[in-house]
Amino acid sequence: MSKRVLVIGWSQTGQLDAVVRALAAPLLASPDIEVVFEPLQPAAPYPFPWPFLRFFNTFPETVHEDPLPIRPLQVDMHAHFDLVILAYQVWFLSPSQPVMAFLQSREAVHLLGGRPVITVIACRNMWLMAQEVMKARLAELGAVLVDNVVLVDRAHPAATFISTPLWMLTGRRGPFLGGRIPAAGIPADEIAAAARFGAAIAAQLPQRDPASREPMLRGLGAVSVNERLIASEKIARRSFVIWGKLLRLIGPPSSVARQLVLCLYIVFLVTMILTVVPLSAVIKRLLAPLMRERIARQRAAFAAPSGEARDNMKEYPIP
Ligand SMILES: Cc1cc2nc3c(=O)[nH]c(=O)nc-3n(C[C@H](O)[C@H](O)[C@H](O)COP(=O)(O)O)c2cc1C
Repeated sequence: MSKRVLVIGWSQTGQLDAVVRALAAPLLASPDIEVVFEPLQPAAPYPFPWPFLRFFNTFPETVHEDPLPIRPLQVDMHAHFDLVILAYQVWFLSPSQPVMAFLQSREAVHLLGGRPVITVIACRNMWLMAQEVMKARLAELGAVLVDNVVLVDRAHPAATFISTPLWMLTGRRGPFLGGRIPAAGIPADEIAAAARFGAAIAAQLPQRDPASREPMLRGLGAVSVNERLIASEKIARRSFVIWGKLLRLIGPPSSVARQLVLCLYIVFLVTMILTVVPLSAVIKRLLAPLMRERIARQRAAFAAPSGEARDNMKEYPIP
């Protein structure tokens, strides 16, 4: 009997969709696997490119897990799936609103409860805190997170700090400044290489014990943890939670008073990113020799369950 895989996700620019298509191609080619795609549909589309204030005004509800609604799913929520691939992008160090709306739905209770789940993230480069939120929500739903695949922008964080917001706010990916800032987003060869994950799943899923909680993607470089970003992500997330709470107390997103305070926060945030992120990276580098074990433990925890190892890459050659 063939195995059934449900692929759920939403992508605004098509980047995450491209990753999912590359990853799912070997599953579609397998005679033993049936794939059902379920694109999430926000009840009202998010704007793209994003108006400046709307972009930042989205963070309080995103961080406080109060998403705008999505439409009911097409798939029968009582249908059986042997594996769920849940693809999401990071918004303000949290899972994006459409995927959070799904996680809070009744459909998620049925589709994810007791099921093995592989999360797939495509984002700029800060995904650690978002995945910790995702791990907690999946655990509450009784889902079993077996793997996590993360694709990020490979350009220098200083470059993507400029190119990603420019992409989101203007719709143009770049390159910018005559090529000094490379085009925003995940390079095409990285996206194509996501096929190795689909190949590994296609090879293992048909014979896999349905009760297994073991990862399928170890040794394939499914994630890579940038330890220099750990402290920045923790500090920034705390700041989003506190300021998000304050802004939500002031009023709904449409409130003028809230938008005025938001402008103040944007100035504070940009100053903080330009100072705290490089500073904490330098401190982390200086303290690294003293904190080797602690950092290794942190890396392993963030990289779980798939891990950072790349010793099995030859087994599933990239097309
Ligand atoms: C509102 C918003 C907030 C974002 N916040 C983050 C973030 O905190 N970390 C990150 O790595 N990427 C962030 N991004 C980039 C997204 O994760 C993603 O790469 C980009 O939106 C393209 O994804 P998509 O077109 O597949 O939806 C953000 C994008 C948006 C629109």
